[in-house]
Amino acid sequence: MNHVSFKPAANELDGKVILITGAGDGIGRQAALTYAKLGAETILLGKTVKKLTAVYDQIVAEGGKEPAIIPLDMKGATVKNYKDMALTIESEFGKLDGLLNNASILNSLNPIDHIYEDAFDKVMKVNLKATLFLTQALIPVLKKADKSSVIFTSSGVGKKGRAFWGEYAISKFATEGLMQTMADEFGHTNIRTNCINPGATKTTMRSKAYPSEDVSLLKLPEDIMPTYVYLMSDQSVDVNGESLDAQPK
Ligand SMILES: NC(=O)c1ccc[n+]([C@@H]2O[C@H](COP(=O)([O-])OP(=O)(O)OC[C@H]3O[C@@H](n4cnc5c(N)ncnc54)[C@H](OP(=O)(O)O)[C@@H]3O)[C@@H](O)[C@H]2O)c1
Repeated sequence: MNHVSFKPAANELDGKVILITGAGDGIGRQAALTYAKLGAETILLGKTVKKLTAVYDQIVAEGGKEPAIIPLDMKGATVKNYKDMALTIESEFGKLDGLLNNASILNSLNPIDHIYEDAFDKVMKVNLKATLFLTQALIPVLKKADKSSVIFTSSGVGKKGRAFWGEYAISKFATEGLMQTMADEFGHTNIRTNCINPGATKTTMRSKAYPSEDVSLLKLPEDIMPTYVYLMSDQSVDVNGESLDAQPK
């Protein structure tokens, strides 16, 4: 079975509690809507409250289970914020079956000799450091589920460097390393860990990187959902340490 063409059952994610970072926009928004439609209870984490409440409203309007909202700016959040969040999730839900680490920033494209410290720190904070410590804080509650799935979001430039993608590309290489390290450490437990490379997808981030491209040629977030669902579903229970492309080559 190919994950790109995975066809989930209507209740594929029934009974699962799934947290999505960056759930207010782009791919994360679509993943939250899709997981909710397939029966999951979703926890929507993101920076802009208005976007999160719009996703909340849409999930409820479509008959999904009422989501929880966690407004959090991962640029400023601390380890204590993540630990408090994990305790709240444990007391509200008792377990966490899935974590989609999706939130990231691109900042701007620059040659190596124009990477500046503040931009580097900002991208590394959101894309890597915050993602690591958020995941770390959630490990105890991920252990409470029978089978839990952690997904990190990579990129083509996290597997092969590309000129001018600077700190963003570096953060995605590090994300692949984080995934592999965690997968090796937790592979014998109930927690499996994998990466998704979404591929070129029509979102705000993509339009920042390629402002003048023909967007009609791009995949939409809904087109790439089979891989996002596959890795959250029990169908992928033996998949660990993989970096999957969400689009066919
Ligand atoms: N689109 C592509 O072609 C493509 C290709 C390869 C990889 N990716 C990866 O796919 C993932 C999703 O990208 P996308 O294209 O959907 O991007 P997007 O449309 O820009 O959405 C990014 C999401 O991350 C959230 N976010 C950004 N900074 C945050 C912060 N400090 N704290 C909390 N949330 C924050 C945003 O919230 P706000 O809207 O509230 O700021 C937004 O919901 C990213 O990891 C990206 O690197 C995308």
